[in-house]
Amino acid sequence: MTDVAAKDSLTVTDNRTGQTYDIAITDNTIAAKDLGQIRLDEEQPGLATYDPGFVNTASCRSAVTYIDGDKGILEYRGYPIEQLAEKSNFLEVAYLLIHGELPTKEQYDGWVHEITYHTFVHENVKTFMQGFRYDAHPMGMLMASVGALSTFYPDARNISDADNRHMQMVRMIAKMPTLGAWSFRHAQGKPYVYPDNDLGYTANFLSMLFKMSESKFEADERLVKALDVLFILHADHEQNCSTNAVRSVGSSQVDPYSAVSAGVGALYGPLHGGANEAVLRMLKRIGSKENIPAFIDGVKDGNERLMGFGHRVYKNYDPRAKIIKKSAEDVFEVTGTNPLLDIALELEKIALEDEYFVKRKLYPNVDFYSGLIYEAFQFPPEMFTVLFAIGRTPGWLAQWSELVQDKDQKIARPKQIYTGDRELRFTAASERWS
Ligand SMILES: CC(C)(COP(=O)(O)OP(=O)(O)OC[C@H]1O[C@@H](n2cnc3c(N)ncnc32)[C@H](O)[C@@H]1OP(=O)(O)O)[C@@H](O)C(=O)NCCC(=O)NCCS
Repeated sequence: MTDVAAKDSLTVTDNRTGQTYDIAITDNTIAAKDLGQIRLDEEQPGLATYDPGFVNTASCRSAVTYIDGDKGILEYRGYPIEQLAEKSNFLEVAYLLIHGELPTKEQYDGWVHEITYHTFVHENVKTFMQGFRYDAHPMGMLMASVGALSTFYPDARNISDADNRHMQMVRMIAKMPTLGAWSFRHAQGKPYVYPDNDLGYTANFLSMLFKMSESKFEADERLVKALDVLFILHADHEQNCSTNAVRSVGSSQVDPYSAVSAGVGALYGPLHGGANEAVLRMLKRIGSKENIPAFIDGVKDGNERLMGFGHRVYKNYDPRAKIIKKSAEDVFEVTGTNPLLDIALELEKIALEDEYFVKRKLYPNVDFYSGLIYEAFQFPPEMFTVLFAIGRTPGWLAQWSELVQDKDQKIARPKQIYTGDRELRFTAASERWS
């Protein structure tokens, strides 16, 4: 038995042996290793937990992002997302996530200068990117090219050095838009555009995406602001699938480029980064407002799913969805409205009043409007996850940096429950096939 105050402990009786154990409760969790003392006899392994998908298991302590899904709260380093989206910008938010506090004027200017200075990539990166097939998915190109940066910066392996870590984080935040934009240009058969360091972070990204023969590409300020806000909204979301991938791979003490490329890989999957594309497909299929009631009936009958609604964590309006809705209005002011927006607004109105959705706490999530905005920018759906990855990079890096400095962390190595055969007798192929 562990010697802990009864109030902050859990008393468990193993009915197999009749033995009782006190297990300490800290931060509303018990340490899984404390369950290891519960065992049938000395021969048997200690008790473990079974938790596919980590739905009720904390893998780390983190001071980066706070979410209260029931109340619809999202905070980066304690600052509410609404305030950051309204009053900050993506690079300042990136600084906040990585350093843990807001920059002074001097720190901010230095940070912006560093990031701007590192937007270019080695020419060989361009050469190998050009080697991808003409129709390569931009997310696959991004994943490969971020991972390949580890070969250009072998010093990145020195992860125990704080200055070195800082250098790699700056490089990655700076170069992701370059790699993302070139992946986009590649699929379009257009020449890659070099960074324009007179422009801000997001304006430069738009220039690398859309510049043709003009000597300077300057996007409408409202579009720049809307995309910057979208980057802020995607910058971190605590222990989601891709962040967990970055942490898991990073726990082997590999360089951060390799760890982040694992995060890009996780985000590539439709269950993570692909829901906004599904929303667009759904809106196009509904086609007009008259068809909404029939569609809603289909959802209630279980034949359809209202994409962009519901969330594993948020059981309230996703705070990011509210901000995105406002950004959508700003973007459509520039690009002209999209008839699908009217369908989306009407769907939302009906769903928020309908008992089926109210009872199940299904509210719009971040993806309900983001696809519409991206389409207004004329991004093809394959680019949606690339945009997400650029926005998420500071979050991945903040989490990675926290991980490598966390003395509690070990190489990620979950347990399994073995269900296969044991101790079979092997017969050589020559005998089996004769
Ligand atoms: C995000 C999502 C996977 C969360 O799933 P979850 O936390 O496992 O929630 P569940 O699947 O257990 O759903 C609970 C109930 O709400 C229903 N439900 C959940 N999302 C729904 C949706 N979008 N449309 C219709 N019904 C939905 C489920 O059918 C279930 O109903 P039941 O209790 O009658 O069986 C789910 O809400 C979803 O598929 N949403 C649409 C896809 C999407 O927008 N994904 C992006 C997330 S950022």
